[in-house]
Amino acid sequence: MGKRWLFWIATAACVGGVFFGVTGEGQAEPKAERGDAARGKTLFARNCAGCHGPEGGGDGYRLLGPDPANLTSPSTRQKSDAELLKTIHDGKPNMPAWKGNLSEKQSRDVLAYVRTLAK
Ligand code: HEC
Repeated sequence: MGKRWLFWIATAACVGGVFFGVTGEGQAEPKAERGDAARGKTLFARNCAGCHGPEGGGDGYRLLGPDPANLTSPSTRQKSDAELLKTIHDGKPNMPAWKGNLSEKQSRDVLAYVRTLAK
C-alpha cells in the first residue's frame, strides 16, 4: 500500500500543477459561495472518478482498506457541506488530501458537482 500512496501523491501533484496552469484565471469571484457544478464535473472526472467512479458510485479504483465512498448514497447526501469539504481538504484513510491541489473555489465546485450525483 505504501507504494500506491506515493503514486497518488505524485498523481495529485502533477494534476495540481496542470490545474494551476489552466485555472489560474479570474481572481474576481463575484459569487464565491456557490460552487459551479460544471467546473466541478471536470475536476471530478480528473481527480476523483478514479476512486469514486465516473458517477460517484464508489466503483473506481480500490485499495486495501476502506473502499471509496459511494457519493450518491443517502449517507453522503445527509452530510453538511462543511463536513464534506473537510473530507475533501484533509482526506481520509485511502483518500488523499486535496487542499494543496484544489483551491477553495475548486473544492466548492467539486462539492457542487458531488451534490448533483446524489439521487
Ligand atoms: C485514492 C482514492 C480516492 C481519490 C482519488 C478520491 N477519494 Fe474521496 N474517498 C476515498 C475513500 C477511500 C473514501 C472513504 C474513506 C472512509 O470511509 O474512511 C472517500 C471519501 C470521500 C468523501 C466522504 C463521503 C462521506 O459520505 O463522508 C467525499 C466527499 C469524497 N471522498 C470526495 C472526493 C473528491 C471530491 C475527490 C476528488 C477531488 C476524491 N474524493 C478523490 C478515496 C478517494
